[in-house]
Amino acid sequence: MTLSRRSFCAAAAVAAPWMARAQSGPLRARVRIDTERVIGEIDPKIYGNFIEHLGRCIEGGVFEEGSSLSDAKGYRKDVFQGTKDLNVTQLRWPGGNFASNYHWRDGIGPRDQRPRRLEMAWGTVESNRFGTHEFLEYARMLATEPYLCVNLGTGTWEEAQQWVEYCNSSEDTAMTRLRKQNGQADSWKVKYWGLGNEMDGPWQMGHKDADEYGKYALEAAKLMKWTDPNIKLIAAGSSHYAQGIDWIGWNRTVLNHLKTHVDYLSLHLYVGNRENDYYDFLASSVNLDERTKTSEGVIDGVLSDGPRNRKIYIAWDEWNVWYRARGNKERGRRILEERYNLEDALVVATFLNSFVNHAHIVKMANMAQLVNVIAPMFTNEKGMFLQTIYYPLQLFANNTKGVALQLLAKSPTYENKRFGDVPYLDASASLDQNTLVVNAVNRHREQPLETEFSLADRKFSGPVQVSEVNGPDIKAENDFGVTKVKASPKSASADGNVLRVTLPPHSYSMLKVKVS
Ligand code: AHR
Repeated sequence: MTLSRRSFCAAAAVAAPWMARAQSGPLRARVRIDTERVIGEIDPKIYGNFIEHLGRCIEGGVFEEGSSLSDAKGYRKDVFQGTKDLNVTQLRWPGGNFASNYHWRDGIGPRDQRPRRLEMAWGTVESNRFGTHEFLEYARMLATEPYLCVNLGTGTWEEAQQWVEYCNSSEDTAMTRLRKQNGQADSWKVKYWGLGNEMDGPWQMGHKDADEYGKYALEAAKLMKWTDPNIKLIAAGSSHYAQGIDWIGWNRTVLNHLKTHVDYLSLHLYVGNRENDYYDFLASSVNLDERTKTSEGVIDGVLSDGPRNRKIYIAWDEWNVWYRARGNKERGRRILEERYNLEDALVVATFLNSFVNHAHIVKMANMAQLVNVIAPMFTNEKGMFLQTIYYPLQLFANNTKGVALQLLAKSPTYENKRFGDVPYLDASASLDQNTLVVNAVNRHREQPLETEFSLADRKFSGPVQVSEVNGPDIKAENDFGVTKVKASPKSASADGNVLRVTLPPHSYSMLKVKVS
């Protein structure tokens, strides 16, 4: 049974009064799972990532020509392996803010002859040594789905159209001859194309108001889809949430212009712990839930008088914890090298829970970014280490698949000034054939949460595999040669239809078990 959007929301609302305030004695939570209460198919593309020409993400991260750690083509082998292990299902490129002044023709042809350009988004010089061919070759090697974002800041419709033609056309044209001349005989058939990046932000090169952007993007969309009708287009939705900014209005206006052409609405969200308030920070995913639900409502509203078979999904194509390294610079350029701790990893797990819990509408998500720049992997010239946020991402991407299940959860809560009562337990579940995966975060900083999962319609069968992400304290970080936060195997047992587990303080656990 697949629940309609309406019944899912109603059921979620019924669950809320169950939640009791923090009780005395051991903290206890209960979760009831009915494997027929399906929210939707989990799209593997929610485990996407993003690489931008920014700091050391590409040059010095993904790609380091001449390094002993790189292969003959210049790709860093350690980063490649880390990306493989992360099961990155889809990769967005070339930006980000960088995309809004990127002219793709600068990045093709013999590498040594490519122009060096002033890069104004991040204040540097772009070598263009990593371009369309290098990116699409990297995606091919990873067996990941490429996602290109066109320049609708300083770029033209024609430029966007010709990029699609260069990559995807099989006709004999000047563009495809150029592609062949540059070494790529077959078209790449790139399916996912973003119509610009964060066009709502005044920081964006070529920033427009919602009407201007909607009209401009529509002309690009028409040409791009006429070039290749099989492509999927992503509209630049909201990324600017400052007080007084009508982000909902942006999405509505943009979709009103683009509803017949786009397949996804892109949304961006970065969160942080500026006030050093652990519990407030751990409630950040409630903000994500609310933005998803509001945006779904806007999509439904816009489509209500549109063609009946049209669907527009949400692509959270930039998301992460990002607040410390907002302005950090190295030799004059912004590098955004955020170091992550355990509390950040827990927030990442709750974001992933949110994507799974909205699997019917969130069909794409890209952590920003893959390496060095606000990223799960961090390199230097000698090697690499895995940041804390790597572990939840890896566990979700490799295990949480199939369909998302609606949970009936009862958890003690804490009061939060922004979001009211927030449950200590944050959870999601998936069912793939007979494999059930439950992801559970205990937000409590000091107390364990004794949690009982019971199946309404099935029995647990076989051992329960538990992987727990935790560390000595919420501020624990990893570093080169130091792994304080990681995933560790734990055990749990199930009896009949009941599985009891104690979730330690400040932890994320993935439970994987067969059901019959
Ligand atoms: O991911 C870093 C930057 O954040 C991206 O370039 C931009 O889209 C967003 O503001």
